[in-house]
Formats: sequence, structure tokens, C-alpha cells
Amino acid sequence: MDLARLFHVLGSIVWMGGMFFAYVALRPAAATLLQPAERLRLWCATFQRFFVWVWVSVAAILASGLWMIALMGSMASAPVHVHLMLASGIVMMAVFVYIFVAPYRLLQRAVEAQDWPAGGAALGRIRRLVGFNLALGLVTVAIGIAGRLFA
Ligand code: HEM
Repeated sequence: MDLARLFHVLGSIVWMGGMFFAYVALRPAAATLLQPAERLRLWCATFQRFFVWVWVSVAAILASGLWMIALMGSMASAPVHVHLMLASGIVMMAVFVYIFVAPYRLLQRAVEAQDWPAGGAALGRIRRLVGFNLALGLVTVAIGIAGRLFA
């Protein structure tokens, strides 16, 4: 259980920390300092590297979460906060997969074609979805921690 918890928390830190840094620090700095062409190229190169780690984190969080549930006996014997976490975690993962296959692909294509208005629109969608996932992720961490205290 401790090893599964370690992978679970490491995955959460990498994913949440990356989204927090991108949303709260890099986004406003890039918007202030860079012209659209450089800004969109920077985001494309940043996502290209960060999303590899999000896939690794998603795999680690899901596998370790299901592993901990298996160690609890079954889903039926898992406490309520684990059910809530599974539901919010699945929503977060679905949102990430959507970002990856839709607006991120559009952003890549727009940058290749040097179509900055289309790139800006795709980046705007990614920003809103990452904001949503960051907020839901912070709630999910609170559920994970508070749930254990009250369980
Ligand atoms: C996707 C499916 C997920 C499953 C099946 C799952 C399952 C679990 C389980 C079984 C526990 C242990 C609960 C306990 O010991 O009472 C746990 C703890 C935790 N989970 Fe999740 N989880 C998921 C997603 C997430 C996500 C997306 C995050 C973060 C954004 C997260 C953050 C945490 C945290 C912070 C803890 C507490 C760790 C501790 O106190 O040691 N989980 N989760």
C-alpha cells in the first residue's frame, strides 16, 4: 500500500505542479513578454515535453489508485472519498485526453502553418481546459487527504 501511495502522490505532484506552474507563472509571463509567433512556438515546445510526463503521471495515478482499491478488498469496501476520487480522476483524465487529441493537435498544425489566429484560438481552449483540470485536481487532492482523516 505504501509503495502504491508513493507512486500515486508522485504522479499527482508532477501533474498538478506542472499545471500550476504553466497556468499561474508561465502563461501571464509569456502573454506579457512575447509576440504571438514566439508565444505559440514556446507553448507548443513546452506541451510537447510536459505532456509526456502527464501520460506517465496518469498511468501511475490510475494504476496505483486501482492497486490501492484492490488492497482494500474491492470497490464496494472502499470508502466514499475513494469513489469520489475515482470519479473526479476519470473526469480529469478524460479532459487531458481531449486536450491532447483536439486543441493540442490544432495548436501544432497552426504553428506548422504559421496560422497565428488559429493557434491563439487553440491555445485559448487549452488554457480554459487546463484551468478546469487544475481546479478539479486541487479539489481531488483535498478529497484524498481529508477523506483519509475522516475515514
Ligand atoms: C483516477 C483514479 C484514482 C483512483 C482510483 C484513486 C484512488 C485512491 C486511493 C484508493 C487512495 C487511498 C485512500 C485511503 O487510503 O483512504 C488515494 C489517495 C490519494 N489520492 Fe487518489 N485516486 C485517483 C485519482 C487521483 C488524482 C487524479 C489525484 C490528484 C489530483 C489523487 C490524489 C490523491 C491523494 C493526494 C491521496 C492521499 C494520499 C495519502 O494520504 O497518502 N488521486 N487515491
